[in-house]
Order: sequence, then structure tokens, then C-alpha cells
Amino acid sequence: MQMELDFSDRTVIVIGGTSGINRGIAETFAAEGARVAVASRSRDKVDDTVAALGQAGASRALGAAFDVRDAGAVQAGLAGFHAELGDFDVLVSGAAGNFPALAAEMSVNAFRTVIEIDLMGTVHVMKAAYPFLARPGASVVNISAPQAFQPAEGQAHVCAAKAGIDQITRTLALEWGPEGIRVNSVVPGFIAGTEGAKRLAPTERAERDFSRSIPLGHFGQTRDIGHACLFLSSPLGSYVTGNVLMVDGGLCQRGSGQLGLMLGEMLRGAARATG
Ligand code: COA
Ligand code: NAP
Repeated sequence: MQMELDFSDRTVIVIGGTSGINRGIAETFAAEGARVAVASRSRDKVDDTVAALGQAGASRALGAAFDVRDAGAVQAGLAGFHAELGDFDVLVSGAAGNFPALAAEMSVNAFRTVIEIDLMGTVHVMKAAYPFLARPGASVVNISAPQAFQPAEGQAHVCAAKAGIDQITRTLALEWGPEGIRVNSVVPGFIAGTEGAKRLAPTERAERDFSRSIPLGHFGQTRDIGHACLFLSSPLGSYVTGNVLMVDGGLCQRGSGQLGLMLGEMLRGAARATG
């Protein structure tokens, strides 16, 4: 088992890997001795993460600051990683933006912003990384969300973007499978202490209500998502592709009712309070 999870001599790229869940994923691979590179917009967050990855056990740690909405910058950033670290054994694409907002009250630019970060960002990362993926053997993991298949009030933009990401996952599994490249999505549930969870459950009461809706009864940890990525990218996952893997304590089995309703009530309540 130990051998199966040995990532020393493996190159792992985590886009959006400088905070929250994605940083947890990068640190999980670092602890297994991988060469790890992370990227996001903030140079400070990149530098801080690179230092932490070295301490976590990465055999090399590298970072670059770019915005996934800029296809040219993504291309240049990934080419730089390739020049330093060689072919990518693992690519995790997880940069995202989210804010709760009802569709009728959201500007077109607000909707477009999330589509451009989450969905077009994924397109840019997939296209730029393709020539650099190890063949055979590369594992691509796109970070999705329950909103990809569970409609939720206040989340039209995220629902549309993440559903698109999962369809990219499935399509690329078909197109790239013959080259020995596997492509999967991981769907985190509510993960404790992360920006995404704070934005959807901003109060203690909301956090408690959301926890009650999770069959396992509590939020997950970033390492839970890291472990899923580790499994998918190890020889243990070598026959898994085109899959959308829920790592959510059972949340998604509840259907879309609870999450969507609670967010809608929260947003309408806030509008009444201010209006
Ligand atoms: N409700 C409604 N609209 C909002 C909003 C909110 N809470 N927050 C931002 N917007 C709108 C803005 O008003 C703007 O639209 P406009 O030009 O019509 O006014 C548009 O979204 C873009 O906002 P801006 O702040 O210029 O975008 P940005 O590129 O600087 O930042 C965000 C992108 C908005 C997604 C920002 O929240 C972010 O950087 N998020 C990353 C972290 C994150 O979301 N983590 C959770 C991951 S799940
Ligand atoms: P987070 O801490 O805000 O992480 C987002 C990461 O993406 C950061 O490193 C951020 O760094 C980067 N990023 C954002 N916009 C970017 C851009 N335009 N270009 C490049 N990088 C960008 O959020 P999180 O909550 O951990 O979420 C991480 C992932 O998990 C997301 O894909 C999210 O949709 C998914 N998810 C989260 C939860 C949850 O409970 N938190 C649940 C389901 C799914 P910079 O600010 O430096 O750019």
C-alpha cells in the first residue's frame, strides 16, 4: 500500500492551489514527496504556499502568479512549470469564484465573472496543459461542486459553470483516454474553514443547519479532498476515468432541496432586512 501512494519522482500541478481545499490537495501530495507547483492570482499567496509545501515534504516546490481567465498567461505559466519540472503526472484544476446572488439581481458581468474563472479557466488550463501531460499515466482532476448537478437558489452562475466543468471531464476522458490520460472530477461537500463554505454558510446558525443536512453530520476537512485526489492519481485509481467522485459526507444524497432552499431564504431575508 505504501508503495502505491509514493509520489516521489512525480510532478503535481495544482491550479488555484494557494488556499483552502486546493492548497490542502497540494500539501497532501507534498507530504508524499512529490514535486509540486501551484498557481493563483496573488503573488503573496503563491510565495506563502511554496514555503509551506517545502516544509510539508515536497521534493521541489514552485509557484507562479497568473489569472486563469487569461489564456496566454496560463499557457506561459504552465510552460514555465514544464521547463522546470518536466511532464505533468498529476494536474488539479480548481481555481474558482463564488458568491451567493439571486439570478434576477445579479449583473450580467457577475454571472460572466464566475463562468470565466471556473469554466473558461478550466478550458484554458486543460488546453495549455495537454502537451505537457505524461503519456501514458497522467491523472487530471477537475474540482467541481454539488451545484454541478444539484440546482441551488442563489447559485445559477456556479451551477452553470460547474456543470460545464463536469461535462469537460467526461468528454476529455473520452478524447484523452486512448493516450493513457485519465480525467476525473472531485466534488467536495462543505469543507471546514474554507472560503467557499464561509460564503455559503456565513453564520454559526447556517453552519449548524448545513451540518445537520450532511448524513455524516459534520463538515469535511481539506485532507479528505486531498486523499481523494491521491487515490485517483495513484495506481489504485488506474482504471478510473470520466468519473465524478463525491467526497461530501453524503450531502448530495439529500438532493438539492435543503441547500437551495436555505440559500434562497438567506438571500431573500437579507434583501428584506436592507430594503
Ligand atoms: N453579489 C452580486 N454580484 C457580485 C458579488 C456579490 N456578492 N460579488 C461580486 N459581484 C459582481 C461585481 O459587482 C461585478 O459585477 P459588475 O461589474 O456588474 O458590478 C462582478 O461580480 C465582478 O466582480 P469583481 O469584484 O470585479 O471580480 P473579481 O474578478 O475582482 O473577483 C470574484 C472575482 C467576485 C468571484 C471574487 O469574489 C473572488 O476573487 N473570488 C475568489 C475566492 C472565492 O470566491 N472563493 C470561493 C471559491 S468556491
Ligand atoms: P478558495 O480558498 O477561495 O480557493 C480558490 C483558489 O483559487 C485560491 O487559491 C485563489 O487564489 C484561486 N483563484 C481564484 N480566482 C482565480 C483566478 N481568476 N485565477 C487564478 N486563481 C484563482 O476556495 P475554496 O473554498 O477552498 O474552494 C476551492 C475549490 O473547491 C473551488 O473549485 C470550489 O468551487 C470548490 N468547492 C469548495 C467547497 C467548499 O466547501 N469550500 C465546496 C464545493 C466545491 P487567488 O485569490 O490568489 O487567486
